[in-house]
Amino acid sequence: MKTYVVGGAVRDELLGLPVKDHDHVVVGATPEQMVAQGFRAVGKDFPVFLHPATQEEYALARTERKTAPGYKGFVFHTAADVTLEQDLVRRDLTVNAIARAEDGTLTDPFDGQGDIARRVFRHVSDAFAEDPVRILRVARFAARYPEFTVAPETNALMRRMVDEGEVDALVPERVWQELSRGLMEQKPSRMLQVLRDCGALARIVPELDCLWGVPQPEKWHPEVDTGIHMEQVVDYAASQELELPVRFAALLHDLGKGVTPADKWPAHHGHEGLGVALVKEVCARLKVPTECRDLAVLTAREHGNVARALELRCRTVVKLFERADAFRKPARFLQLLQATECDARGRIGPSGSFADTPFPQRAHLEKALAAARAVNAGEIALGLAEQPQRIPDMVRNARVRAVQAALARGDEPDDDSVD
Ligand code: CTP
Repeated sequence: MKTYVVGGAVRDELLGLPVKDHDHVVVGATPEQMVAQGFRAVGKDFPVFLHPATQEEYALARTERKTAPGYKGFVFHTAADVTLEQDLVRRDLTVNAIARAEDGTLTDPFDGQGDIARRVFRHVSDAFAEDPVRILRVARFAARYPEFTVAPETNALMRRMVDEGEVDALVPERVWQELSRGLMEQKPSRMLQVLRDCGALARIVPELDCLWGVPQPEKWHPEVDTGIHMEQVVDYAASQELELPVRFAALLHDLGKGVTPADKWPAHHGHEGLGVALVKEVCARLKVPTECRDLAVLTAREHGNVARALELRCRTVVKLFERADAFRKPARFLQLLQATECDARGRIGPSGSFADTPFPQRAHLEKALAAARAVNAGEIALGLAEQPQRIPDMVRNARVRAVQAALARGDEPDDDSVD
């Protein structure tokens, strides 16, 4: 029996990157021998074992055969006579199909090292097509290693898989898992580009795919194209190391611009409201977790108001807080501010980036929210025990006054009908 380190660990070592976990492949052993040596069998379908001391994964060398469409239809063949090369040939990319023996020798039958040097993602064999998740993986790897490109033949194969409906067979949980991981990488726009180039984005999130080619007013958007704007905004969010919900909200904030009638371009009046329904649709389809969905909906709806914060009257600001449930969820409101800040500062035009442009809206609204939250709503309610119907108005009025004082806006008209 021989064991080898394979996959991501070898790839990242060769790239000079830190290695998180080691996957091992075992050649020449049976499951019984593994168990006899103290390994613990895990997973019902996969012949995978955990090392008794390190808890690292050891998989028996195996071959796979496709039995049904989608990624569920696999049967595994594992036997002591499956060779290392047979195991490597069914792996996704040449850069992931390099094995390192215990003495350090590399087995690299598909020139993964050459592709690492050339910075190319290339599929190992036709077996790539047996697992459509691999399309998403390639896209996610592109976001993690932005200097890599996809080999033309691999892009062609991925396109063929998309045309054959393979991507449509993926379960939403798996799509979300890969998309969300890709968003957390250093350059999420590369993931979007790879998915677009093979036609997968149009199948998975057509609401995003249609944003390329939609113009915006050059005065505000020097990048003009809405798809490019969205790429810039998610990359900026990644550069700021923001959390997943903020990156996801940045990704979907302008979906409404995709449904503006072309004769209204480059204006997009009302795109925030139109975007809300689209964001909800995408999130329902991909079974997006609630935290990500709620922030994405909120950001689609309110990013325009946040961007205009300095011009809003204090009463309007308080209503924004109410709609955003900011009194109960101040941390989420901060995420809305972060996503909107990415929208503003992520822009890059011919004369440079907006990354250093001030975004005073954030401090302005943070200050206003702190003041409004300091109002003791419970005390006001107690004082109005006889007239409970007046409580909401009185609480709001007190908050408006608190915000006016904090922002030194005491002299502005305080009339609801002006909103
Ligand atoms: N693999 C594959 N096809 C998949 C999933 C995995 O061929 N759909 C193979 C690849 O050789 C991969 C290895 O299994 O390198 C380990 O998979 P995984 O741990 O998911 O990915 P890594 O490449 O190790 O990348 P990461 O750094 O994201 O863990």
